[in-house]
Amino acid sequence: MNDPTPLAGLYKQSYSQRQSLLAEYANLTDGELALLEAGLTPEQADMMIENVAGRYALPFGLATNFLINQQEVVVPMVVEEPSIVAGASFAAKLARTGGGFKTSSSDPVMIGQVQVLDLPDLDEAVAKLRSAEADLLAKADHDPIIRKFGGGARGIECRPLPDTPAGPMLIVHILYDCRDAMGANTVNTAAEIIAPMIEQITGGRVNLRIISNLADRRTARAECIIPAKALARAEFSGSQVARSIFEAWAFAVADPYRAATHNKGIMNGIDAVVMATGNDWRAVEAGAHAYAARDGRYTSLTEWSLVEEMGEITQLKGVLEIPLAVGTVGGATKAHPIARVAMKILGNPDAQNLAEIMVAVGLAQNFAAIRALGTEGIQRGHMRLHARQVALAAGAQGSLVQEIADQLVAEGVIREDRAKELLAKYSNS
Ligand code: MEV
Repeated sequence: MNDPTPLAGLYKQSYSQRQSLLAEYANLTDGELALLEAGLTPEQADMMIENVAGRYALPFGLATNFLINQQEVVVPMVVEEPSIVAGASFAAKLARTGGGFKTSSSDPVMIGQVQVLDLPDLDEAVAKLRSAEADLLAKADHDPIIRKFGGGARGIECRPLPDTPAGPMLIVHILYDCRDAMGANTVNTAAEIIAPMIEQITGGRVNLRIISNLADRRTARAECIIPAKALARAEFSGSQVARSIFEAWAFAVADPYRAATHNKGIMNGIDAVVMATGNDWRAVEAGAHAYAARDGRYTSLTEWSLVEEMGEITQLKGVLEIPLAVGTVGGATKAHPIARVAMKILGNPDAQNLAEIMVAVGLAQNFAAIRALGTEGIQRGHMRLHARQVALAAGAQGSLVQEIADQLVAEGVIREDRAKELLAKYSNS
C-alpha cells in the first residue's frame, strides 16, 4: 500500500534531498531554505540577549505522519536528543490507524498575579475588590490590538493566603485572553496597570505583579485511539503491547519518581516544537510540571485506557491535556528567522492551533516512549543513534562518523575513549 502522508519516508533521503522535498511541500523559497542553513545573523543574535559572543545551532528535524483533526501536518522539531523525531513520527503513524489525533483547546486566557500585603482583613479586601471588578477590568484592558482580535481582560479572582512565611497576603488574579500572543508582556502590563488601583481599593501594599506560568486557563488537549492489532510486534501480540503501555502509565500515575521521567518524555516532543517555533520552552515546562501536581501530588500528564470486547483488548486510548502558553506573534516567533520558516511549514497556525499541534506531538512522544520501554526497551535503538553523537564528540567527521558509530555498536562499547581509539586507527589507515 502506498503511504499517502506528506514527506513519508523522509528518513531514507539525504539531507539535501530532504531540503528539496520540504521546499516543495511547504512552498519554501530559496531564501527561506537558506535561512534554515544560516539561522540567526550575528546582528539578530546581538539584538536578542545581552553580551552576545556567538550563535548556537541545533538540528532542525521534521516529524511526519501527523494527522490532526483530519489535517496532514509536518511538524518541525528542534532538539539535540536522538530518537525523538523518529519516535514521534512512528507513533503518529500508528495513531493514523485509529484516525489520527483529535485536538481541542480552551481560549488563550493567561493569569497575571498581584500580591497584596499589609491587609488587616483579607475577606473585607476580597469583598471590596469584587464590587470593583468592572472598573478593574476596564483598567486592565489596555491593549487595543488584542481587543480588536477578540481578546482582553476577562476576570478578576482573589486568592487569600492567610498563612505564609511573610504573614497573610491576598493574591489577585487578572485573567486575560491573549489571543495569538504568548501573553507575558500583555499580562505583566495589565498586572502593573491595576496594581495602584488595587492598593487604593484595599488599602493594602502591592509587592509582585507578574504572570503565572501555571497557565491552567490556557490548555490544549489531544486524544488518539490505536487499534490493538496495530500494536503487534514480532514477539508481542497487540493486546500484550497495549497492556504493557497501560501498566507503564499506571506506574507513572502512582509514582512521582516515574511520573517525572514519563512527563519528561512528553516534553521531549512538545519542547522541540516550542523551540522550532521560537516560543518560551521554560514557560511551557514550568506550566506542564506545575499542572502535573495540581491535585497536590505529582503524577502523569497523560491518561491511557484499554477498551476490551469479549475479554479481548481491542483498543488503546490516550489523552493528554496540558497548559500551553505559546504565541504566534511577537517575541522570537517573529524575530527568529528559522521560527518563521517553521511556522510556514506548519501552515501558519494561530496560537490555539499551534498549541493543539504541540499537545498531539506530546501524546505521540509519550506513546513512543512507553511502547518502546514496555517492549524491547529503548537502549537498542537509542544507542545506535547515540553512537553517532559519541563519534562526533570524539572528533570524527564525514563518513567516519557512521563508520565509527557502527563499530561502537558492533562492539557494544559506546564510549568516547573507544571512539577516539577507532578514530586514530581509521585516520591512520
Ligand atoms: C528519554 O529522553 C525519555 C524517556 O525516558 C521517557 C520515558 O521514560 O517515558 C524514554
